[in-house]
Amino acid sequence: MTILLETERMDRVNAIVSHPVYKEYYERLEGLEQDRVFCRHQMPHLLDTARIAYILSLEQGVEVEKELIYAAAVLHDIGKSLQYEKKIPHEIAGAEIAAEILDSLPEDMRFSGEEKRRILTAVRGHRKLREDAEPLERLLYESDKASRMCMACPAEPVCNWSKEKKNMEIVI
Ligand SMILES: [Fe+2]
Repeated sequence: MTILLETERMDRVNAIVSHPVYKEYYERLEGLEQDRVFCRHQMPHLLDTARIAYILSLEQGVEVEKELIYAAAVLHDIGKSLQYEKKIPHEIAGAEIAAEILDSLPEDMRFSGEEKRRILTAVRGHRKLREDAEPLERLLYESDKASRMCMACPAEPVCNWSKEKKNMEIVI
């Protein structure tokens, strides 16, 4: 018996992360966080967030397209450098940068107007859960928090996350 493992293609998500504007902000943030002892916001965190969000969507029976989950996850912290540099909340800065990126993807890689709206709503809402949060927005909020491995983090004792928020044990 042959088991064929097929990876789903993620062309539009790859188009996002290779977009020049994405790369510029990503690299700027990477430089700014080089010596950061607290949580960083590079690809390991972004992909952990995407994977957890997808797992949650399956477990909760929430039907959200995998590609949109990954698109929102790779974009959600892209505004973080502007929070460090200009004190602009990163969900606001990030939604603006994300819109610019999504609007200028190669034509055959574009998201529809509705897909774009859902992604931007999720990016904008990922820090504080709105009561009437949309499914993608809620998944991103939950997975972003769940992705942090506080129990194994050397900076945990001095981290200002509340005790309730910190992930101090493995939860499945
Ligand atoms: Fe995040």
